[in-house]
Amino acid sequence: MSDQITHVLVPGTFDPITYGHLDVVRRARRICPHVTVAVAESLGKNGVGTTFSLEERVALAREALKDIDGVDVLPFTGLLVDFAAQVGAQAVVKGLRAMTDFEYELQQADLNYRLDADLESIFVMSSPEYGYLSSSVVRQIASFGGDVSDFVPPCVDAALRARFS
Ligand code: PNS
Repeated sequence: MSDQITHVLVPGTFDPITYGHLDVVRRARRICPHVTVAVAESLGKNGVGTTFSLEERVALAREALKDIDGVDVLPFTGLLVDFAAQVGAQAVVKGLRAMTDFEYELQQADLNYRLDADLESIFVMSSPEYGYLSSSVVRQIASFGGDVSDFVPPCVDAALRARFS
């Protein structure tokens, strides 16, 4: 196997996908020809259920990313390292917004390293304009009827309005 990284995963819960995620996917695509956005079944970071089902999160991500070539979107359950091996991805790319992200991401990268030392973890710095942005703040604003059209693609904005109307 060549050491060259040709296929990376951008994993996450994507509940829902935001412009911050799109920024990370675009950055990953600049450094690698094939990017798979891996949507985790996930119970959410705090063990509570997601707002959108796995199928809905995949469909929204596909719609949001449809114009970027070299990017596909797949659901996964189980361990990320197993999914990476299954699809032949050699690395995971994640975005870092602030020091608070760093501790969480370092822990995940360490765990993934323990599980599969061949799977590389690569971090890109989020664009400053998205430093404040997260799926959870988007869900919270939308749930109170706030305008999130600056934070998410139109398909996600419509899905949030439908969910919280
Ligand atoms: O969007 P998130 O919640 O930060 O994504 C976290 C995710 C889904 C990437 C992470 O929880 C994950 O990789 N889950 C799959 C289970 C797994 O492999 N766990 C061990 C490494 S943390």
